[in-house]
Amino acid sequence: MKDHLVIFDTTLRDGEQSPGASMTKEEKIRIAKQLERLNVDVIEAGFPAASPGDFDSVQAVASVVKDSTICGLARAVANDIDRAGEAIKPANSGRIHTFIATSPIHMEKKLRMSPDEVVERAVWAVKRARNYTDNVEFSPEDAGRSEPDFLCRVIEAAIKAGATTINIPDTVGYNVPKQFGLLFRELLERIPNSDQAIFSAHCHNDLGLAVANSLAAVENGARQVECTINGLGERAGNTALEEIVMAVKTRQDIFDVDTRIRTQEILAASRLVSNITGFAVQPNKAIVGANAFAHESGIHQDGVLKHRETYEIMRAEDVGWSTNKMVMGKHSGRNAFKTRLEELGIEFETEQELNDAFGRFKELADRKHEIYDEDLQSLVTDN
Ligand code: KIV
Ligand code: ZN
Repeated sequence: MKDHLVIFDTTLRDGEQSPGASMTKEEKIRIAKQLERLNVDVIEAGFPAASPGDFDSVQAVASVVKDSTICGLARAVANDIDRAGEAIKPANSGRIHTFIATSPIHMEKKLRMSPDEVVERAVWAVKRARNYTDNVEFSPEDAGRSEPDFLCRVIEAAIKAGATTINIPDTVGYNVPKQFGLLFRELLERIPNSDQAIFSAHCHNDLGLAVANSLAAVENGARQVECTINGLGERAGNTALEEIVMAVKTRQDIFDVDTRIRTQEILAASRLVSNITGFAVQPNKAIVGANAFAHESGIHQDGVLKHRETYEIMRAEDVGWSTNKMVMGKHSGRNAFKTRLEELGIEFETEQELNDAFGRFKELADRKHEIYDEDLQSLVTDN
């Protein structure tokens, strides 16, 4: 029996912090409903103290979504925690996520607080949040650049104060997989009460390593991953939900965890977030890019037509595509050409006719980037 990996989606909070990705309340509700269809465990719906609009959005999401836990973010200050507590009230299941920075640079230059003061504030914040819900998450912000000894101290105190999830953010995307994985192992081994909380990974993608770092954390004991649809998020973004979920599902031989995500809803979620934010998905984006399940080269097309697993490690249908795709272009082979024409209802009486048409197709493909079905039809009918 595999452990459950909690999928915590922060598209509506960290995702919205992506410059230019602001969403209206109605848009957030549409996305939240799709996240519920995906069967996401926790939806971080916003930062209620950030603005009256953000408060309203979190409250509205908490009112309409019933099957996922709704979370509100709060700094370790009274007003933030109280606003988050109010906003999540309508939820069937609500969580407050409170955070304070623990790295030397953040404590000294940003907070201007001593390490002792940070521990004291963290404990105070968790206890205050517990007045609203017994589901409290604590994050030592910039954990990826914090001293492990100090992390152990603040996390042990936060768990004692009542935190049930401990999230380890690589806030600036500075870590690399081996290091981030070892950090989880060290924290889980050294913190005496670590078994009383779920440890979580929250990775940013500044070095393109957010998914790899999250997977390293899971291999070393993390049982929650924080992620966003299409990897939306601050700067270079966050861990992409679709990638982490499909990595764990596809490589069950490696990971001891399962998610509850209905993967067939992934493409719809990706398209919804892209349409609402106006952030296009690059064609070669894993899982949800237009080319993720497309084959153009003749060798690959021939292989896939004989057996899909020759060049496919996942089924396109499992993430919401209607099928994989054979793109007809100059690299395409005779087998794919013949198969596509048969699908269009065109068959050749002789091998010679097929060879002649294939020759005309190759000439056209040298001139034209992508060959559409209409081009194929006229290749045959116009001759
Ligand atoms: O990246 C970060 O540190 C955050 C925290 C608020 C968890 O988003
Ligand atoms: Zn973040």
